[in-house]
Amino acid sequence: MSVIAIYSPKGGVGKSTIAVDLAWRCAVAGGHETLLWDLDPQGGSSWLLGHEPDERMRAAGVFQRDGRPQALIEPTEFPRLSLLAADDSLRQLPLQLARLGQRRRLQTLTQFMARDYPRIVLDCPPMQNEVSDQVIAAADVLIVPLPPSPLSARALDLLRRDLTREHPRHPPILPVLSMYDSRRSFHRIAREGPMAPFPTIPYSSGIEQIAFRRAPLGTFAPYCEAARALDRLWRAIEAKLADMGVG
Ligand SMILES: Nc1ncnc2c1ncn2[C@@H]1O[C@H](COP(=O)(O)OP(=O)(O)O)[C@@H](O)[C@H]1O
Ligand SMILES: [Mg+2]
Repeated sequence: MSVIAIYSPKGGVGKSTIAVDLAWRCAVAGGHETLLWDLDPQGGSSWLLGHEPDERMRAAGVFQRDGRPQALIEPTEFPRLSLLAADDSLRQLPLQLARLGQRRRLQTLTQFMARDYPRIVLDCPPMQNEVSDQVIAAADVLIVPLPPSPLSARALDLLRRDLTREHPRHPPILPVLSMYDSRRSFHRIAREGPMAPFPTIPYSSGIEQIAFRRAPLGTFAPYCEAARALDRLWRAIEAKLADMGVG
């Protein structure tokens, strides 16, 4: 079993887009029962997978002592892919987790659910708080999308510094260069630096369409350059998990 977290302290870097695509590939191409758990109150990945908001606001209740995540998990239209959707109640989650006083509550829940879901993909809120601390404790690997900019390189350095200080046994980080546009000279310059070895997802109109169609790229443009890049990313993550012995 593996828990793959798509994490960045920044918003708008491609987390939800990558989370949905990766979960879809784990399920459809990888053949694993897969759970996409949307932990961001903005609910980007829930929305991309066609989920409609539920007035009952139960997403954060899953974390309570008597919470039952299974009751909230819903199937998607894709084989083997299930969703634990976000809602506004997650805004209170950092406070709720702090009150609960269980630093590894998310890890306990993912370990429990791993019996049914050998792949769990966490779409994380763009914060550094109690939720991200719990994500770091629960994840086997942290996928960090970085748009090509010196600010991203700096954000990655800061993240590495914080993880080393506060989570010395943190999971491996897999940085991903996201939204890369080879026509832009500053993107090319950014990629020539320390970001050169990272897997790269191009800036693409196909990926933009995901949000209009509310469907993974592979379902409507499986052979475009961006779909092939996302496929390579999925394969690189699977290879990493296999190396780590958690695949
Ligand atoms: N590689 C890409 N090419 C084009 N648009 C992208 C790409 N990745 C993300 N986007 C768009 O950028 C916006 C932010 O992406 P999103 O996945 O919601 O980021 P986050 O979850 O980090 O906030 C969305 O409108 C999405 O469609
Ligand atoms: Mg998002």
